[in-house]
Amino acid sequence: MLVPSLKEAKIRTKKESIVKVDEYKIDDSLKKIGVNKKYFLKTYGCQMNEHDSENIKAILEDMSYTSTDDMEEADLILLNTCAIRENAHNKVFGYLGRAKNLKERKKNVLVGICGCMAQEEVVVNKILKDYKWMDIVFGTHNIHNLPNILNNAIEKQKLEVEVLSCEGDIIENIPVKRDSKYKAWINIMYGCDKFCTYCIVPYTRGKQRSRRKEFILEEVEQLVKDGYLEVTLLGQNVNAYGKDLDTDYKMENLLEDVAKTGIKRVRFVTSHPWDFTDNMIEVIKKYDNIMPYIHLPLQSGSDRILKLMGRRYTKESYLELYRKLKEALPYSSITTDIIVGFPGETEEDFKETLDVVEKCKYDSAFTFIFSPREGTPAAKMEDNVSLEEKQDRLQRLNELINKYSKEANLKYEGKTVPVLIEGVSEKDDDTLMGYTDTMKLVNVKCDKKYIGTIQNVEIKEVKTWSMDGEIKEN
Ligand code: 5AD
Ligand code: SF4
Repeated sequence: MLVPSLKEAKIRTKKESIVKVDEYKIDDSLKKIGVNKKYFLKTYGCQMNEHDSENIKAILEDMSYTSTDDMEEADLILLNTCAIRENAHNKVFGYLGRAKNLKERKKNVLVGICGCMAQEEVVVNKILKDYKWMDIVFGTHNIHNLPNILNNAIEKQKLEVEVLSCEGDIIENIPVKRDSKYKAWINIMYGCDKFCTYCIVPYTRGKQRSRRKEFILEEVEQLVKDGYLEVTLLGQNVNAYGKDLDTDYKMENLLEDVAKTGIKRVRFVTSHPWDFTDNMIEVIKKYDNIMPYIHLPLQSGSDRILKLMGRRYTKESYLELYRKLKEALPYSSITTDIIVGFPGETEEDFKETLDVVEKCKYDSAFTFIFSPREGTPAAKMEDNVSLEEKQDRLQRLNELINKYSKEANLKYEGKTVPVLIEGVSEKDDDTLMGYTDTMKLVNVKCDKKYIGTIQNVEIKEVKTWSMDGEIKEN
């Protein structure tokens, strides 16, 4: 049993991360474990987690499992969890209740969790106390060892916990089963060293570790050969790429090299305003295949709160970066993340946030009420904003955000924009969906032959969250 430790997860040394290329091995005897068995994998959280799930699926299929979307028919139920806010926790424990019920009816069903919640001491302690009936718990550093973890749980017939709380290595060559044939996630770095005071991620995902460029570029080149049209470079803080390596090769160089592979679309998330360099802006401007879409989390517009959050920028410097981006890339769309109700946030502080929103007129934003995460510095700060106040601020903020989203989208009416047609819309079988270069969701009624192509689409009708368009034949 290897349980998480918050104390260890906090440690940062100066050591450069180790790249391990042979870490994922699957013994022949384990390749048959999943014959005639089905797995049900549910993913919560960010793109990083979505991509981890693509690795987990490939590993399970290496073990002969096949997938199912119906939990009732699963032999293995796995929840890939997120720890970022309390409500993410609640959803997972709710789901585990359902899984327990199924396990009582179907004795051989295995139930497990992985991902960021598995890295939390409080969660694992709760599982060891009240959820002993579960079978596996493994952390974000342990994915490659899934075949052995699963095998141990089956052989010992008891809960197998394997969670490392370390800075982490870089494990190359974990297999991947991508959800899309056209768009791919690529990790360019793991972990985070920013330690914003509200955030659990540096504890759940370890030290910032940049992947070596050779592996990243090789992966992109292979995707181009396989017919992929879009890659999204993933990291908690992609602009800091390379800063943990003994090299001058930074994000702007990587972005340029990825663009040069000829892949039709390059995206990157998430950017921290602190590390956004002028050189990066130049590279984005220079290459048509780097998409004019930037997610630039603000978190708060108040200098006092930004300082308490440990964000390392001010309202003024954020607005200055925003101005530079819009000047260099006037067509770009910019989105953000905002937290309301951080400990000590006054009405004045909140108004500063509204003021930034008024000035930036974001294309869209993810907005959250502060959620104290055990072990983070902010969780120890006095939470003196009432729940009503927090909810009221969130509502006022959302109203403003929605107003500007609609305004930004209205600029597209009548325009023709490139859309990567990805597939059938979830809401309507006769409609296809895709995203513009600026990451706007567009629904198009057209022939299915267009799936997997980039088309010029004329925008006919604009809504707050999406647009309707028609393909413009040349
Ligand atoms: N409470 C509320 N929101 C949070 N986020 C991160 N940590 C917390 C927290 N403790 C938000 C931030 C981040 C996004 C992914 O989630 O806005 O950018
Ligand atoms: Fe992603 Fe952070 Fe949630 Fe982990 S805690 S899944 S890194 S958003």
